[in-house]
Amino acid sequence: MFSRSELTAMVNKALVNIPYNRESERLIEPVRYVLSIGGKRLRPVLALMACNLFTDKIDDALVPVTGLEIFHNFTLVHDDIMDNASLRRGQAAVHSKWDVNQAILSGDVMAFIANECFLQSPPESLQKVFRIFNKAAVEVCVGQQLDMNYEKVGIIHQDEYLRMIELKTASLIAASVRIGALLGGAGDRDSDLVFEFGRNLGLAFQVQDDLLDAYGDVKIFGKTSGGDIVTGKKTYLYVRAMELAGPELKKKLQEVYGIPGGDPETTIKVVTGIYDTLNIKKLTENLAKEYYDAALGYLEKVSVPADRKKGIIRLTDSLNSREQ
Ligand code: IPE
Ligand code: IPE
Ligand code: MG
Ligand code: MG
Ligand code: MG
Repeated sequence: MFSRSELTAMVNKALVNIPYNRESERLIEPVRYVLSIGGKRLRPVLALMACNLFTDKIDDALVPVTGLEIFHNFTLVHDDIMDNASLRRGQAAVHSKWDVNQAILSGDVMAFIANECFLQSPPESLQKVFRIFNKAAVEVCVGQQLDMNYEKVGIIHQDEYLRMIELKTASLIAASVRIGALLGGAGDRDSDLVFEFGRNLGLAFQVQDDLLDAYGDVKIFGKTSGGDIVTGKKTYLYVRAMELAGPELKKKLQEVYGIPGGDPETTIKVVTGIYDTLNIKKLTENLAKEYYDAALGYLEKVSVPADRKKGIIRLTDSLNSREQ
């Protein structure tokens, strides 16, 4: 079995070895940049771990799963434009370092470079891999659309929030592990279980991302603290706070949350103060934990010996207490 660090190293090496069209250095420079400034490589590593559940021969999966990381990075480049976020992995976001047009185009090319990677799947699985990926890619777009729509809506129900994060974040993580399992030769039942593992893990992951956006340490998390509060994102923290707040707190929250023109630091202070009053941090941690546990429940049912699951369980556990 391969460890997380071995798999991360394999993915990083594969990323460096991606051949680029050399006709425009300006197009590719931001691609190299965003791929070189860090990132947990979670999606390809999870995919390789899912593959490794079923086989020791994971090398054929390496390039296709590298496509998942490139696609993910493409979504981040465009997401930072949409979210007006200038910090990514502790460094300047692509649209800040270059400009918005550059981030659009270099992002676009990444999506197609990712396709090149998927096309290198073994012929017998190629069509399935592409179908799984493409479905998730469309879902990410739908999720991102809802995420933007909800910025302008005062009250969002928990179900709407959960569907939004399922689409924008969990879809790709679930697709990643399904693709890994498929390339590892999993049967249909196991592949469905692995997918459900990924879906629940993805939900936990985004709930926690919301938490870290408000409470994380910018030096570790690498993204501007309180960005979601300032831009009026409908995070789990906000949705839950609006549910629990009495009329006065609710009014206070709505007066500052995502309202342009205010001083960002004051806004963040007021909002996190309200969150603290309502014990939102704990409630959010509890929800993330519920989804992590649900994820592990599905993994348990996968029909391979328990010792093959140790690595992926360890990774899941470590994500539960992540700060990055
Ligand atoms: C960030 O994903 C976007 C979300 C879905 C929350 P990651 O937290 O996996 O980002 P990197 O790749 O490690 O930087
Ligand atoms: C992540 O949502 C979804 C995608 C990038 C598709 P966020 O907007 O919360 O991600 P971060 O926090 O900027 O990484
Ligand atoms: Mg964002
Ligand atoms: Mg976003
Ligand atoms: Mg976020």
